[in-house]
Amino acid sequence: MFKKDFMWGTATAAYQIEGASHEDGRGLSVWDVFCEDGKVYAGHTGDTACDHYHRFTEDVALMKELGINSYRFSLSWPRIIPNGTGEINQKGIDFYNALIDELIKNNITPIITLFHWDYPYELEKKGGWRNRESSDWFAEYAEAVFKNFSDRVKYFVTLNEPQCFIGQGYAQGIHAPGLICSNRDIVTMAHNVMLAHGKAVIKLREIAPDCKIGYAPTASAAIPATDSEEDIEAARTSFFDIDMNNWTWNVSWWSDPIMLGRYPEETKAFKKLGKYLPESYKEDLNIISQPIDFYCQNIYNGARFKQGKNGPEWVPNSINMPLTNCNWPVVPESLYWGPKFLYERYKKPIIISENGMAGYDAISLDGEVHDADRIDFIHKYLLELEKAVDEGIEIDGYMYWSLMDNFEWSKGFSVRFGLVHIDYITQKRTPKDSFHWYKNVIKTGGKALHEISK
Ligand code: FCB
Repeated sequence: MFKKDFMWGTATAAYQIEGASHEDGRGLSVWDVFCEDGKVYAGHTGDTACDHYHRFTEDVALMKELGINSYRFSLSWPRIIPNGTGEINQKGIDFYNALIDELIKNNITPIITLFHWDYPYELEKKGGWRNRESSDWFAEYAEAVFKNFSDRVKYFVTLNEPQCFIGQGYAQGIHAPGLICSNRDIVTMAHNVMLAHGKAVIKLREIAPDCKIGYAPTASAAIPATDSEEDIEAARTSFFDIDMNNWTWNVSWWSDPIMLGRYPEETKAFKKLGKYLPESYKEDLNIISQPIDFYCQNIYNGARFKQGKNGPEWVPNSINMPLTNCNWPVVPESLYWGPKFLYERYKKPIIISENGMAGYDAISLDGEVHDADRIDFIHKYLLELEKAVDEGIEIDGYMYWSLMDNFEWSKGFSVRFGLVHIDYITQKRTPKDSFHWYKNVIKTGGKALHEISK
């Protein structure tokens, strides 16, 4: 059973919903520049997105109607500090103050992510995360955020999915800024990213010791192929191992330093890449591993593993495996095994900070959006999460991604994850069937998950 004060929420990110990207003094982010060159599906850009900047009151009213008690959203760094460092843009602060006040007025707890990918372009020009000073730039921004908002906001998250903004942005080049860098540079960037996280945690403790802070990496869960001890161990090992074919996509490189104060030195990846760390890396780990209060995990799917003759082996998905509109497999057990393995290793309360799916989601002839696939998806995933809760794993919240359809990075507006449908031409909001269904789950504290209608 989910606890009484469980955080039932939804998540969004600034660049994906706000729009107004050239208004009220906002500076450029790497995503604006990436979009300008037509690198996103069909030339889409985040210039208008869901126009949330102008419609946030309507959107908070929808949240209220949905009944969520918490809402995870991100701040746009270049809206607050247009050049990344230096002068603060009061209009940006005013916007977030108004949003925060509106949330609180409606009894919705704000959870602020400081950085969800819209990196200030001016800082990218100075070398971005490659530059060791980047951790100080981030600390300066964090300080501005805490000073302005921590009187009302009590939950902060430093960074969203470093696996993606570094991996896809600088290793694969499919996300902004679209670069393909050397491993030497990527190891440096990853280190600076984590140093930035640690410095922000220190700032929060100085400025607002009554607040809580977490970190939001992503993962694909590892699921044992059977319930045998051997397969469970194979899945556990694989979950924390690093595949050199796509090494930036992993758990341990990004979380062990923060949660355990050490790099995963036992992995083959470390043996290959550890030499690129700065000489001071061991001292830096003291900053990187400042204790945090909760561990956020974004989790959408998983893969199966079994114990083979020479160690863990990947087991291909069943031929029956359903796929979402992004072609991501639907693997509900990810919300059981993922939190279980993370809790064993890191021993911190967990918030599922993103989980959701892209579906077909058209407006039907009756004017509604009948997204039965999404209801089925959330239903199955939440039952697995509840199983973890029942086994004593501390899960503090679940944030469905996303409140509304939005700009899905390189896929533009071509895939829809929302509980609320957005018509991007008229900006009309239409709550989908899943909105009404999730509302009932929240209202019953999860009990409605056990009513299965046949
Ligand atoms: C995650 C991102 C989020 C959204 C979802 C679908 O990787 O954090 O912004 O794009 O995927």
